[in-house]
Amino acid sequence: MKSKTMLPETVHEVSSASIELPAPSHEPRFGVRCNEGWTRREVLRAGVVSLGAAAVTKFSVLDAFAQSGGRHQESWYPLQVPEETPPSTPLLHCAPAFVDMGDGKLRGVLAYNGRFPGPTWVARRGDWVTTSLLNGLDKPTITHWHGLVVDNPNDGGPRLSIEPGQYYNYGFPIVQRAGLNFYHPHPHMLTGEQVCLGLAGAFIIRDNEEDALQLPLGPYEVPLVIRDASFDSKGNLLYNPTSAGFKGKLPLVNGTLNPMLRVDQGVYRFRVLNGSNARVFRLAFSNGLPMTVIGNDGGLLRGPVTVSEILLGMAERLDLLVDFRALGAGQSITLRCINARWDLLKFVGTGNPGIVYSPPAVLSTIPSLSGPSEPTRTFTFDGMSRINGQEYDMNRIDFTVPFGVTERWRFKTGGNAPHPVHVHGASFQVVSRTGGRGRLFPWEGGWKDTVLLSDKETVDVLIRFDTYRGLYVMHCHQLEHESMGMMSNFQVV
Ligand code: C2O
Ligand code: CU
Repeated sequence: MKSKTMLPETVHEVSSASIELPAPSHEPRFGVRCNEGWTRREVLRAGVVSLGAAAVTKFSVLDAFAQSGGRHQESWYPLQVPEETPPSTPLLHCAPAFVDMGDGKLRGVLAYNGRFPGPTWVARRGDWVTTSLLNGLDKPTITHWHGLVVDNPNDGGPRLSIEPGQYYNYGFPIVQRAGLNFYHPHPHMLTGEQVCLGLAGAFIIRDNEEDALQLPLGPYEVPLVIRDASFDSKGNLLYNPTSAGFKGKLPLVNGTLNPMLRVDQGVYRFRVLNGSNARVFRLAFSNGLPMTVIGNDGGLLRGPVTVSEILLGMAERLDLLVDFRALGAGQSITLRCINARWDLLKFVGTGNPGIVYSPPAVLSTIPSLSGPSEPTRTFTFDGMSRINGQEYDMNRIDFTVPFGVTERWRFKTGGNAPHPVHVHGASFQVVSRTGGRGRLFPWEGGWKDTVLLSDKETVDVLIRFDTYRGLYVMHCHQLEHESMGMMSNFQVV
């Protein structure tokens, strides 16, 4: 707390409940129920306990309360930033944990290594990723590295699930360009539940091309894992999907409730991931502040594009530059979801000088794939559970794709969207959208691994599998649709 002007306009309620600090246990236990009926004792017994956030909070709720006179209706808590983890991280333990989402209350979640969201992997192109997943849940799981091009044994698809108490060893090289990727469970019919209850995290890849741009770093580069959530009567994460999928009652950014970030008067780089099961965010600043998109799922775009709002589907990512130069000490604006009418994240100016940065007109040279002008294959996303009329069967291979050949895939839907279509094993280039919104958007350039299909849309992509042969899946990333069967196995041969 440097001065009063730096305070957020905040904090109405202070949790007075004393928090019992349990002795952390590192012994994995099994059999804890995930989404209801949790007692604190059960959660604590369950293993890894994360209490770090309460202790390291830089901003004291009590101080702010005292100084603000408690006038305001809303509490804002400092944005938590997940700790980083290196390419070789010996253990990735998924298990129930207790975490502080900013308000000082301990809440039951499922966590990777006790963190919610999981730690952010940071690796460079050429690095080897090695880790051992330990299933500390009471149901099968497996971890998929969304956006990473890896071979089948490392892809974490549903056929590779492990039982409670088992380990799965991963080892793969990073063979792709810099970008923000994502890791989360992918067990058959359980992905939606496990992601919603907390198992997800960011995976950042860096490379020389990106380094050359000298983008904002350190405190000026901030990952934002945005999702919605609901709590049960005890305040633990709740999974209660309806036929329209899981829609949470409130937003979380990096697992923080009502998050607030103090910003200097300069440029920030935000690495944004929509980690929701079934919610599309329409992002904009409360004052219309422009956002410069420099990258998406597959890394840097060809050039920067400045926009005032962005529609971000589930599992899609953004690399954004935002200039807070005009935000003076104590002034605040929020990043909002216009559709949900939510404030997602509040920014409060520190008044300190920040960094000056403007991106070059050419960020990256991305060759356009050249491929057929007529679709090689067409996939219709039918109802809430079918692709081309069929529900997923783990043991059926729905199609085979020749290695190294550029194909044009057409994704269509009549309704029940949003259907964010995600393909494992390769990135693609989006070439057209007809029907529905009827156009492509600036954040859909370059390389993508997930493309948003709204009602009545037809989207064509060019795709080429030129790294590995083997079995992969393609599916809808509305996770309840995926769990109900909107997924196909295919084999690259
Ligand atoms: Cu993010 Cu197949 O998933
Ligand atoms: Cu869908």
